[in-house]
Amino acid sequence: MTQKTAAAKAPPKPETKAPAKTPAKPADSFTLTDNASGKSWQLPARTSVMGGRLIDIKRLYGDTGVLTYDPGYTSTASCKSDITYIDGEKGVLLHRGYSIDELAEKSDFMEVCYLLLYGELPTPEQKTSFESDIRIHTLLHEQLISFYNGFIRNAHPMSIMVGVVGALSSFYHDSTDITDIGARRLAAHRLIAKMPTIGAYAYKYSLGMSFPTPHNDCSYSENLLQMMFSNPAEKYKIDPVLAQAIDRILILHADHEQNASTSTVRLAGSSGANPYACIAAGIASLWGPAHGGANEAVLKMLDEIGSADRIGAYIKKAQDKNDKFRLMGFGHRVYKNYDPRARVMRDTCHEVLEVLGVEDPKLKLAMELERIALEDDYFIKKKLYPNVDFYSGIIMKAMGFPTSMFTVMFAIGRTAGWISHWKEMLRDEDSKIGRPRQLYLGAKAREYLPLDRRGHTDKKVSWAWLWGG
Ligand code: ACO
Repeated sequence: MTQKTAAAKAPPKPETKAPAKTPAKPADSFTLTDNASGKSWQLPARTSVMGGRLIDIKRLYGDTGVLTYDPGYTSTASCKSDITYIDGEKGVLLHRGYSIDELAEKSDFMEVCYLLLYGELPTPEQKTSFESDIRIHTLLHEQLISFYNGFIRNAHPMSIMVGVVGALSSFYHDSTDITDIGARRLAAHRLIAKMPTIGAYAYKYSLGMSFPTPHNDCSYSENLLQMMFSNPAEKYKIDPVLAQAIDRILILHADHEQNASTSTVRLAGSSGANPYACIAAGIASLWGPAHGGANEAVLKMLDEIGSADRIGAYIKKAQDKNDKFRLMGFGHRVYKNYDPRARVMRDTCHEVLEVLGVEDPKLKLAMELERIALEDDYFIKKKLYPNVDFYSGIIMKAMGFPTSMFTVMFAIGRTAGWISHWKEMLRDEDSKIGRPRQLYLGAKAREYLPLDRRGHTDKKVSWAWLWGG
C-alpha cells in the first residue's frame, strides 16, 4: 500500500473549530421564526390532560413585539380549566371527567350543579345540604318583582332575563364583593336558585298572569315546571316524566367549556365586575341565533320548511354561498361529529312525545331533515351534525313552552356552568383582565380638517355599505 493510498483512506481529521452556538431548544417547545428578519424564538408548549399540546403565547408580545391574529378564537385557548372536556372529533363531552350520557341518565340537575361548582359528585349529606341551600333562595324580592311591570307585555323573555338578572346586583350588595369568598358562594347559590323563578315570571308576565310562588317541597325541575304551568285557579299535578325531561334538558345545557356566553361571563368577570352583572352578560350572548337562540330558530325553520318535500330546496339553500340561510341546529365550532347531547335530546324527545301522546309532525320533519342532511355531501365534507338545539325545541314545544322561552330554559341550565367558570377564573393565578388586541387596518395619523375645509369626496357610500350590508 503506497503512502498516497494510505493517506486517501485515512479517516477525516476531527473538526477542531468549535461549532457555532445554537440556542438550546427546550424539548417541549415550538420555534417561531420571522422569515423577514431571520430571528427565532422558542415558545413553550403546554399539554392538556387530554386533547394534546398548545403553544403558550402568553409572553409572545412582550418578548417579540408580535401579536397573533385569531378572529373567533378558533385556535386560541383563553384560559386553563378543569371543568369540562370536549373531544369534538369523537363527539365526547365530559364534566369533571364524567360522560354527559351517564350524567343525563343517572344524575339529576342539582348533582350536576354541585359537580360543576365543586369538582366532585356530592355525598348524600352534601347533596341534601346543597339542595336546601338552593331552596332558601328561590323567592324574588318584592321590589324586583315590580321591576317586571316596566317591561312591555310582549317583551321577549330573554330581554327580561338580561334586565332582571342584571338588576339583582342592586338588590344584593351583601354578595357583590368578589374578594369575599362567602359572598361568592352566596351569589353562586342565589343565581342558580333564582333563575327558574325569574324565567317563569317572564313567561307569566307575557300572559298577564299572577306570579306563582316557588314550592320549596318540590325538586328544582318540578318547581320550574309548576311555576311555568300552574295557574291559581286549579291544582297543578306535576307529571314525573315531564319533570325528569326538564331535569335532563337542564343537565344537557349545564356547561359546555369556553363557548361564547361562558367566555363572555369570564371576560366580564375579568374586570372584577360582580357576578350578577357577569351572568346578565352571559345571557345576552346566549340570546344570539348562532348560540342559544338556535333552539328557537330551529322551530321557526321547521315551520318555514313546512313539509318533507321542501327539504331538498332548503338543503340547497343552506349550501348556497349567496344565501344567508343556514340549517339551524346543525354544525358546531368544536364538534365534528354527532353532538352527544343531541343524541340524548333526541331520545328524550321520543319519550316525552310518547308520554304526552303527541304526534308532532315537526318531529317527523326534523328526523327526515337530519337523515337527508347526514347523507348529503356538503354536510358530510364539512362535518356538520345536529347539535343540542336541534331536538330541544321540539320537546319543549310538546311540553307547552312557547318558542320564545326555549333560550330561557337554556339560560337556566347554563347558569350552573357560567357561575362555575366565573368561580374558577377568580381562583386562577394566571387570570388577567381580558383585553384582546387587533389587526389595525384603518387610516394612518392624518391632519384634522375643520368643517369648512372638508370638500366633497367622489367616494360613493351607501348606508347599507356603511353598516356592512
Ligand atoms: N348550515 C349550512 N352550512 C353551515 C352550517 C349550517 N348550519 N354551519 C356551518 N356551515 C358551513 C359554513 O358555511 C362554513 O362553510 P365554508 O367553510 O364553505 O365557509 C363551514 O360550514 C364552517 O362554518 P363556520 O361558520 O366557519 O363554523 P363556526 O365554527 O364559526 O360556526 C356555528 C359554528 C355558529 C354553530 C355554525 O355551525 C352555525 O351557524 N350553525 C347554525 C346555528 C346553530 O345551530 N347554532 C347552535 C350552536 S350549538 C350552541 O350554541 C348550543
